[in-house]
Amino acid sequence: MAKAPGKDKQKSADKPADKGKRLLLGIDLGTSRTAVMSNHGAKHMVRSVVGYPKDLIGVKLLGSAYVVGQEALDKRSYLDIRCPLEDGVLREYSERDIEVARHLLSHVIEAAKPKPNEEICAIIGVPARASGANKSLLLNIAQEMMDMALVVSEPFMVAYGQGKLVNALVIDIGAGTVDLSALKGTLPEAEDQATLARAGNFVDERLMALIEERYPEVQINTYVACAIKEENSFVGDNGKSIKVELRADGKPGMYDVTDQVQAACESLIPEIIETAENLIRGFPPENQSDVLKNIIMAGGGSRIKGLGSFIAEKLSTFGEVEVTTVADPTFDGSAGALKLAQELPPDYWDQLGDLIA
Ligand SMILES: Nc1ncnc2c1ncn2[C@@H]1O[C@H](COP(=O)(O)OP(=O)(O)OP(=O)(O)O)[C@@H](O)[C@H]1O
Ligand SMILES: [Mg+2]
Repeated sequence: MAKAPGKDKQKSADKPADKGKRLLLGIDLGTSRTAVMSNHGAKHMVRSVVGYPKDLIGVKLLGSAYVVGQEALDKRSYLDIRCPLEDGVLREYSERDIEVARHLLSHVIEAAKPKPNEEICAIIGVPARASGANKSLLLNIAQEMMDMALVVSEPFMVAYGQGKLVNALVIDIGAGTVDLSALKGTLPEAEDQATLARAGNFVDERLMALIEERYPEVQINTYVACAIKEENSFVGDNGKSIKVELRADGKPGMYDVTDQVQAACESLIPEIIETAENLIRGFPPENQSDVLKNIIMAGGGSRIKGLGSFIAEKLSTFGEVEVTTVADPTFDGSAGALKLAQELPPDYWDQLGDLIA
């Protein structure tokens, strides 16, 4: 495929080509967080938000046209907060959405500190069942700032990083989507993967609604609900009660939210179990017992306390089940993408999936 003229200073097409120098990037472009790792040791996580001043006072306060990541959230009182991803994929309603995505991706590449003359080659994780149009949109944006970009499914990236490529099932619980992938020793086909639209953000909304229902007097929003969830999430038997400080009529008070946290977290489980069961049935019968002992959970949602044993229990009618959680849910996706980029040189990427070069 022909290269577009380099529009961005990051892209080495503007510079003298030096094929020997390659900056390889593994990027996990997530709804709530984006992680990037490079073959030169860069390792960064950024919240997937971009903030733009609401008016001229905001421009003065911010000192720039926009800001990416946590700083945008910290200053949200005077910024318009834009999330370039929705349900795991790029928003694509308007030119403005695309501009926001450009700002995020460009920030992520900057964070990896490319050197002049380096070719930038990135493997980018997208939801398992992202549409072809959405992948093309992402690749078109990537093309403006990279020399080569390949999109692969997020759970496949995780599986590759863990070296679990055969008779395994990956469940990646993110903010926008839960992505499942059955690993059969080949690149997963469409029927080996599933993307569920209820994930971490859904839990936040559910928790907010349940707390409002129980305590109509309190003031709560999804930021507060998300913070309560991240601090206290659990499924199954917690063994202790959860009391949090909330405000009613401007006054702080302590509220017991144990049942609400449990119900919100458990709301994800039935769909995950049903989908996992379907994917396990898709393996040859002689391999299904191995798959059951090779279930890997990833993504921020894998931090929910008790989740592994809860899922194992729900699947126990199928046989002996072992569920493990990746060591670092923040970076294991990008680490897998980087490993893939390093072990399989970019010259072969066209055999792996959708590519822009
Ligand atoms: N301790 C925790 N308990 C429950 N959920 C958590 C915890 N820590 C983080 N999360 C949730 O995990 C989600 C973020 O996970 P992750 O970074 O994997 O998502 P993402 O990659 O941005 O989203 P997606 O893959 O859907 O695009 C958020 O909903 C966050 O609130
Ligand atoms: Mg993710």
